[in-house]
Formats: sequence, C-alpha cells, structure tokens
Amino acid sequence: MKVRKAVIPAAGMGTRFLPVTKAVPKELLPLVDRAAMQYVVEEAAAAGIEEVIVVTARGKEALADYFDKHAELESLLAARGDNDRLAQVRRTSELVQMEYVRQPEQLGLGHAVACAARVVGSEPFAVILPDDIIAAEPGALTQLLEVFERYGSSVIAVEEVDGPAIQSYGVIDPEPVSDGVYRVRGTVEKPALADAPSNLGIVGRYVLTPQIFDALAEVKEGAIGELQLTDGLAILLKDQDIYALRFQGTRYDVGNPMGLLRASVEMALRREDTGPAFEEFLRRLLA
Ligand code: UTP
Repeated sequence: MKVRKAVIPAAGMGTRFLPVTKAVPKELLPLVDRAAMQYVVEEAAAAGIEEVIVVTARGKEALADYFDKHAELESLLAARGDNDRLAQVRRTSELVQMEYVRQPEQLGLGHAVACAARVVGSEPFAVILPDDIIAAEPGALTQLLEVFERYGSSVIAVEEVDGPAIQSYGVIDPEPVSDGVYRVRGTVEKPALADAPSNLGIVGRYVLTPQIFDALAEVKEGAIGELQLTDGLAILLKDQDIYALRFQGTRYDVGNPMGLLRASVEMALRREDTGPAFEEFLRRLLA
C-alpha cells in the first residue's frame, strides 16, 4: 500500500534553544538560508509523500506561514525580476500539501503522533522528526519506504552509536535479516550501557501501520509523565513485526545548539554558492 502521509511532530518546547525559542520555533532556525524544517519536508516530498501533517502548538503559528503562499512577496520579487529568489520563495509553498493539527499540551512524542490520528486515518504513514536532518541519496525516508514495501510491516530507522552515548537513545534488540535490515525483537528506552541489547539506536524516521494509534491509546492508560512513541512500538510489537533499517547517510541532530552549528557549517561548505568563500573564511580564521 502506498504511503501518502507523513506526520512531523513539531509541538515541543525546544528548551535547549532558549532563549531564542521564547519567540521563534526551533524548527524555523536557519541552516544557511532555509528553515531546518524545510529540509525534512523536502525529504518527504522526494519520497513521494503527498500530504504532510505538522503537529504544532501555541506560539508556533509561524511554521504555517513559512509553508504558505506569500502572494504579496511573490509579486514584489516578480516586479523586480528577482527570479532566483522568487523560485526559492515559491518552492516552500509548493513542495507538498500541508495540514496542521495542534497538540494542546506537551505530553510527549507518542502523544503528539496520536494527535494526528484523525487526519491520518486507517492507512500506513511516516513519522519524521525535524530535529534529525539526514543528508542521504536517496533520502532516508525513501530508503525506509523500500523496506516497508518489501516486508509490509512497520519500519524504524536506526544508526550505530558507539560507547555511552547509546544511553540517551531508544535501543533495539535486533535479529539481522538482510544487509542493514533487522527484525526488531524488542526495544529498550535509554538503557544503561551494560544493559543495551545492541549498539543500534532509534533515530527520527518511522513508517508505521495505523495500529500504532491503538497501541498508543493503550500506553496512555498506564503512562506516567510523557507518552513515548517507543512505548507504543513495544505494544505494537506484540501483534505485528517491526523492522529496523540501518540507513545510509549522515544524520545531524539539530535539536541542540552544537548540532545546529555543525550542520550549518557542513551545509555551507557543501553548497556551491557558499562553499568556496566560506571555506576560505574558515581557513583564515583557523590559521
Ligand atoms: P524533544 O524531546 O527534542 O523535545 O522532542 P523538544 O521540546 O522539542 O526540545 P527540548 O528537549 O525541550 O530542547 C522530540 C520531537 O518530538 C516533538 C518535538 O517537537 C520534537 O520534534 N514533541 C515532543 C512534540 O511534538 N510534542 C511533545 O509533547 C514532545
């Protein structure tokens, strides 16, 4: 079955970016000249997703403005003959159809995904976390969808994490099935290093069957504190297979200032328009 919809949970408070996130959603912080969020919406569009459902919250209305058509600005750029900028501005509103649902209280990632249940309906869908920007060709979601088509079950993205860093991830207990693909035997959220069942940590791309919503509803009843998506996956696993893919590509965690800086520098160096001059600047700075 074709996966047509992707949910992007973006209702978090972004406390690691305070004070800027008092007024600006962290998803709109720029990497060179584009909002971080645009990179993941582009990844969704490239994977053939037709509709992106953003889970948003009070104070984050600018997210919808960013992806909306701005007729006045377009007219101005057209009148000036600034066709490059006009194309860039148009692109943000033409990537894919966008929908917005609100998460009234920040009760966790699992709760945010559950807020999209009505708009997703009873079809498989993708979840993309905007904090994880993945440079890959083909895109990470495209790679996951290929595994989903092969096995017809939910697929989650994992990457190898060395040393104590694994303690801040959801970790899978993997049974290898083919190159880079594992059947998930279980998941553990933020294990102690000695208890981690593998070095494969879950990162922000998922393709899920709609039964995840029933699983999340079940978690909700017993949940203390935040409702985690990983807890929903553990319940889903009792009824359905879940696969994991060690995707090819480089992931940047732009959910914290250091990660955003790293991603900004690498992207500025990689781009044709900024790369040469920026590299020259860095060389001089470090000399
Ligand atoms: P994080 O754990 O990074 O939380 O959420 P956060 O609020 O975004 O950032 P910090 O930790 O305070 O700095 C992971 C993802 O889940 C979404 C976030 O928007 C982010 O994409 N999320 C989290 C929600 O949509 N709702 C929630 O209640 C919690």
